[in-house]
Amino acid sequence: MRHLLSAADLDRDTALAVLDTAERMAAVQTREVKKLPPLRGRTVVNLFFEDSTRTRSSFEIAGKWLSADVINVSAKGSSVSKGESLRDTALTVTAMGVDALVVRHPASGAVDRIAGWVDCAVVNAGDGTHEHPTQALLDAYTLRRRLGGVGAPADLDGRHVAIVGDITHSRVARSNVLLLRTLGARVTIVAPPTLMPSGVASWPCETSWDLDAVLSGKAFGDVDAVMMLRVQRERMSGGYFPDEREYATLYGLSPRRLDLLGDEVPVLHPGPMNRGLEISSTAADSGRSAVLDQVQAGVSVRMAVLYRLLAGADEVVV
Ligand code: NCD
Repeated sequence: MRHLLSAADLDRDTALAVLDTAERMAAVQTREVKKLPPLRGRTVVNLFFEDSTRTRSSFEIAGKWLSADVINVSAKGSSVSKGESLRDTALTVTAMGVDALVVRHPASGAVDRIAGWVDCAVVNAGDGTHEHPTQALLDAYTLRRRLGGVGAPADLDGRHVAIVGDITHSRVARSNVLLLRTLGARVTIVAPPTLMPSGVASWPCETSWDLDAVLSGKAFGDVDAVMMLRVQRERMSGGYFPDEREYATLYGLSPRRLDLLGDEVPVLHPGPMNRGLEISSTAADSGRSAVLDQVQAGVSVRMAVLYRLLAGADEVVV
């Protein structure tokens, strides 16, 4: 694996190997001294052209726990705001002797372009509405743990995952559909027609506009997990739904809808959450919510990805 740009870069064996490596990396999180030596002397740059809380800080923690030197460069406060081109910025940063570039950019395809210009490993930390492969990996990791157990990750083969919300603008949905299919899971995406992407017919999943029918299992059979997605107002140029109350009524995970699900069915959300819009506080704070597990998984999975890209070995000494 030279870069990680898309969930499609991961075949089943590689995806499972990354998830297994992440399981071993997770042990570090519970230690008093959270430091392993494998990336000593390596430099990782987080190059973020878009806001981020979880993704950037977890890549930073992941790199540091593996003993890499991690530098954060954000568009605000960099020469990007002076008009420097994307290529010049990428080449400038990597000219300093960087081993891995972790990039987030508001334009779909920007991270692929950067990977074509630079010599180091590139990780896509979210490009526009295109892909966010490490989010899909951490979601799969969380699902394997929630549906199996700590130390006994479940096989996702044949599991049914509903992904609900603003699919059109969601790189998380795209990467998850790809990775979950690679891992053998069945995916149903649920959205109002205006937030269902064009071309969705070619995606390897079922689609529905009826959230109650999907959650109750009437549409495509029982669901094993639900992933709620944020309504991405910052990417919307027009009226995709009449108002927020209508969206919450038709597509929000309300307490009533939570009751349609089995007691053990986990609820995921990549964050940041719009409480009261796509997810109620009852659902977000319930025992079924895996939101903080996802954040925790983010560090282990990103450690595994950086380790595999930079150290290259399959065997981890933890
Ligand atoms: C997601 C993203 O940025 O794509 N968040 C994240 O990485 N945790 C989803 C979102 O912004 O809604």
